[in-house]
Amino acid sequence: MNTIRPEIKICLRNLSKSFGNKIVLDNINLTIQKGESIAIIGGSGTGKSVLLKSIIGLVKPDSGSLRIDGKETSMLTHKERMLFNTRFGVLFQGGALFDSLTIWENIAFGLMQEKKLNKKNAKEKAIQIMSEVELDASVSNSYPSELSGGMQKRVALARAIATEPEILIFDEPTTGLDPVTSNVINDLIIKSVNVLGATAISVSHDIASVKKIADNVALLHEGHFVWQGPADKIEKSQNDYVRNFVNGVSNNQSLPSGRS
Ligand SMILES: Nc1ncnc2c1ncn2[C@@H]1O[C@H](COP(=O)(O)OP(=O)(O)OP(=O)(O)O)[C@@H](O)[C@H]1O
Ligand SMILES: [Mg+2]
Repeated sequence: MNTIRPEIKICLRNLSKSFGNKIVLDNINLTIQKGESIAIIGGSGTGKSVLLKSIIGLVKPDSGSLRIDGKETSMLTHKERMLFNTRFGVLFQGGALFDSLTIWENIAFGLMQEKKLNKKNAKEKAIQIMSEVELDASVSNSYPSELSGGMQKRVALARAIATEPEILIFDEPTTGLDPVTSNVINDLIIKSVNVLGATAISVSHDIASVKKIADNVALLHEGHFVWQGPADKIEKSQNDYVRNFVNGVSNNQSLPSGRS
């Protein structure tokens, strides 16, 4: 009898990162299956963005192992890393759009750089993706500063999914948006993950969004994952850290050892 075994896409083992005396990630472990959508939650400054940046190679961990598709990424040369990074689509916290590029140029950046599409084809594809994220083609020649925050998030999302990457990284995709726009972005994330069959890692402070977009959740606190579990169990969890997070209590305070 054939049993389908889950495939590990990303595996972190004893990963640590400090800045000066500040320990941000302290021997963390995390396994993400292929096709899984996981949300990383935690208080402000707990290292969620540092973790995402470590996965995409923008931050170099001090120690530990970080494997993607079984390959140890800390061993990659610069050239290998550039090639490797074509697997990622990233929505950075704050959008991080290129101010001096138009909307379609922002979206088409990876299509031209990585996929080597010419300008005409890249623009066509960018406009097609704009319609997928419900952005009107009339703004294709505008600049990011001319768009509202919600529209900029859609552009950032469009840029992240444009190259149809295997791994999608969303750092606070709905922060600062009104509930209606947040819902639109969440639906677009779900659609993108499903259509691409991608593995997704999202950082969010918003429990409603987490429950919507993620299968599983990992809560980061003082350098460690203090709780991991299914997204639909988060509100019923008796774990002190989870309850504090869900109830909006600062996670920066020290708590007794958490219960699951
Ligand atoms: N390049 C850097 N140099 C020095 N310190 C850094 C650097 N990047 C992050 N840090 C520090 O690491 C800690 C974690 O930062 P990080 O941005 O990952 O937090 P976060 O969990 O994403 O917070 P938020 O929810 O506010 O986005 C912070 O104390 C931050 O100041
Ligand atoms: Mg952050």
